[in-house]
Amino acid sequence: MPHRIAVVGTGYVGLVCGACFARLGHSVVCVDRDAGKIASIEAGEIPIFEPGLEDLVTAERAAGRLTFTTDTAAAVRASEAVFIAVGTPPEPKTGNPDLTAVMAVADAVLDAVDGFTVLVTKSTVPVGTARRLEARILERQGIDVAVTSNPEFLREGNAVHDFLEAERIVVGSRDRRAADLMESLYRPLIDRGSVLMVTTPETSELVKHASNAFLSTKIAFINEMARLCEKVGADVEMVAHGMGLDARIGPRFLKPGPGYGGSCFPKDALALANAARDAGSPLSIVETVLSSNNWHKHAMVTKIADAVGGLDGRRIGVLGIAFKSGTDDVREAPALTIISELVKGGARVTAFDPQAMENARPLLNGIGYAEQAAEVAEGADAVVILTEWPEFRDLDFAAMRARMRRPVLIDLRNLVEPDRAEAAGLALHPLGKAA
Ligand code: UGA
Repeated sequence: MPHRIAVVGTGYVGLVCGACFARLGHSVVCVDRDAGKIASIEAGEIPIFEPGLEDLVTAERAAGRLTFTTDTAAAVRASEAVFIAVGTPPEPKTGNPDLTAVMAVADAVLDAVDGFTVLVTKSTVPVGTARRLEARILERQGIDVAVTSNPEFLREGNAVHDFLEAERIVVGSRDRRAADLMESLYRPLIDRGSVLMVTTPETSELVKHASNAFLSTKIAFINEMARLCEKVGADVEMVAHGMGLDARIGPRFLKPGPGYGGSCFPKDALALANAARDAGSPLSIVETVLSSNNWHKHAMVTKIADAVGGLDGRRIGVLGIAFKSGTDDVREAPALTIISELVKGGARVTAFDPQAMENARPLLNGIGYAEQAAEVAEGADAVVILTEWPEFRDLDFAAMRARMRRPVLIDLRNLVEPDRAEAAGLALHPLGKAA
C-alpha cells in the first residue's frame, strides 16, 4: 500500500532513501533547507556521485512519486512518516557525532505535526538518541509522535542496490502503530526476501554501530595479518581465502588494503567506543581496532619508504585518493594520511584519482595532481596504488615504466597481476605477500 513520507536532508542517505522509497511506490517529498541544493536537484544535478541514482531520481520525479521542497512544515503535515537523514559530523574535540542538526529537524517536525506521525532516525546516531527524542516529545502536550530507529546499511557506490536488495531491515520502536507502518513501507522488499527485524530503539541503534565496528574489525584484522605475512613469507590473500572457507568466518571484508576509511567506519567505531565508555562498559576490542587502523596507515608509509630507500627527495606517484573505488568521497581516506606523511618525510607526490581530486584538493596541499593516471609515473621513484579503481589494473605499465626514474610499483590493494608488472619491467611490491 503506498504511503506518504517525508525525508529531511537531501545528502547521501536522504536522497538515496527518498528515491528508493519512491521506487517502492510511495509518495516521497525530500526536504532540504538549502534552497540552492533543491533547485539544482530539480534541474537534474545530483550532488553526489552514486551509480544509478541520477536515473532513479529522474524516473521517479517523472512518475510524480518524488518531489522536493524547502518547506519542512508542509512536508511534515502531508506525511505519515518523517525520516531524519541529516548529517551527524564528528565533533572536532571528541569525535562524537554532532546531533545538532538531527535535534533541530526533530524540533521542526514536532512544531509542525498535526496528526499521528512516525519520526524515524535514518542518520546514524549513537545509542540513546531515540530516548532523547522521546523525552522531547513528552515535554510537549497533545502531539502524537512515535520515535523509530531505522538505520541504513548502504555502502557508498552500491547504495541504490543495497537499498532495493537489502539483506535486512532493522526497525526499533516502542509503538506498535509505528512498527506496522514501517513494515508496510518496506513490504515490497520483505516480499522479495529482505529480512525485517523489529526490536527496541536501543537495540536497533546498536545493531548499526555494532555491525560497522565488527566489519572494521575484520578489515583491521586482515591488515595486521598482511603485515605479519610479509615478515614470515606467507600470502595474505590465501590466508584470507582459507579463513573464509569456514562459513562461520566468511570470505567477505577480508581484503587487505591501506586501512579502512570513509564517513562511517572510523567515525562510528569511535562513537561506539565513546558511548561504551560513558556507559561504564568500555569496548577494548573496538578501541584496539581504532588504533590498529591508525597504526596500519603509518606502517604503509614505512613500507613505501623501505621500497624506495627513504622518502627524502623521492618522487612518488599516487594512484587513488578516494577511500575506496566507485566514489568521489575522501573522508577519512587512508590516502590523506599516507600522502601527508610522505610529504612530511620529504617526498614529492603527484596524485591522480578518477573522481576524487576535486574533493581532495582543499585537504591535500603541497602535492601535484595529474590529469591522467599514467602521468603520475613521470620521473617517479615509485608508483603507489591506494584505491582499487579497476582502471588502474589495465594501465599501460610498460609505458609508465618508461617514464619512471625507478621501476617500483607498490600495490597496496593487490590490484595488479604480477605477470603484467613483471612484463613491464616493474618491481612489484604487493601487500601481505611476495611479488
Ligand atoms: C560502510 C558499510 O559497509 C555499510 O554497510 C554502512 O551502511 C556504511 O558504512 C554506513 O555506515 O553508512 P562504506 O563506508 O560505504 O559502507 O564503505 P565499505 O564498502 O564498507 O568500505 C569501508 C572501508 O573499508 C573502505 O576504506 C574500504 O576500502 C575498506 N575495506 C572494505 C577494506 O579495506 N577491505 C575490505 O575487505 C572491505
